[in-house]
Amino acid sequence: MNFILKVFEFHYKMISIKQINEKDIDLCYELDSNTISLWSKKQWINEIKKDGIKIFGLLLADIVIGLCVMHVVLDEAHINYFVVNQKFRKKGFGSYLMSYLIKHCEKLKIKKLILEVSQTNITADKFYTRFDFYTVGVRKNYYKDGSDALLKEKKLSIKKI
Ligand SMILES: CC(C)(COP(=O)(O)OP(=O)(O)OC[C@H]1O[C@@H](n2cnc3c(N)ncnc32)[C@H](O)[C@@H]1OP(=O)(O)O)[C@@H](O)C(=O)NCCC(=O)NCCS
Repeated sequence: MNFILKVFEFHYKMISIKQINEKDIDLCYELDSNTISLWSKKQWINEIKKDGIKIFGLLLADIVIGLCVMHVVLDEAHINYFVVNQKFRKKGFGSYLMSYLIKHCEKLKIKKLILEVSQTNITADKFYTRFDFYTVGVRKNYYKDGSDALLKEKKLSIKKI
């Protein structure tokens, strides 16, 4: 077995996903500040208090290396935020978190996952396409830089438990 494969296996043994609660909100703010800087600490605190909001942290040992914020409304879930720490990208961690979310939503009998992604964000677009998200609309000049948002959807299968 080569070295890269050993490192990868080692990482996966230490990886876990947990639902973030209000007392862990600093971890969200910290990761956000070091990546896409979308929300202030106050906005993170407001976000977690909203009805239907679920925040999932991807942990390597006790370090949060990925985050997803999901807003569940009836049988639909909107992914409002999805990020992996820059140092850990292109190693399968984003896929690990997304696969977990899909299974979680299927168990909740959620029928559809929805998100918006900038037309200029080729990496994220490829990532979502890999998970069979399809573009169902375009929101013109949606982002501050004037770029359009692609509205994407993924239909889920209802799992019998
Ligand atoms: C999008 C993001 C979450 C992907 O996380 P990741 O851990 O790097 O993703 P993975 O390693 O699981 O990659 C899965 C697939 O996504 C695509 N992908 C990921 N990074 C890519 C890149 N830099 N270029 C092209 N495709 C890429 C590939 O299809 C990849 O499969 P492959 O490795 O077999 O080629 C990560 O790049 C990120 O945090 N980006 C910044 C935040 C962001 O843009 N979030 C989305 C906002 S809507």
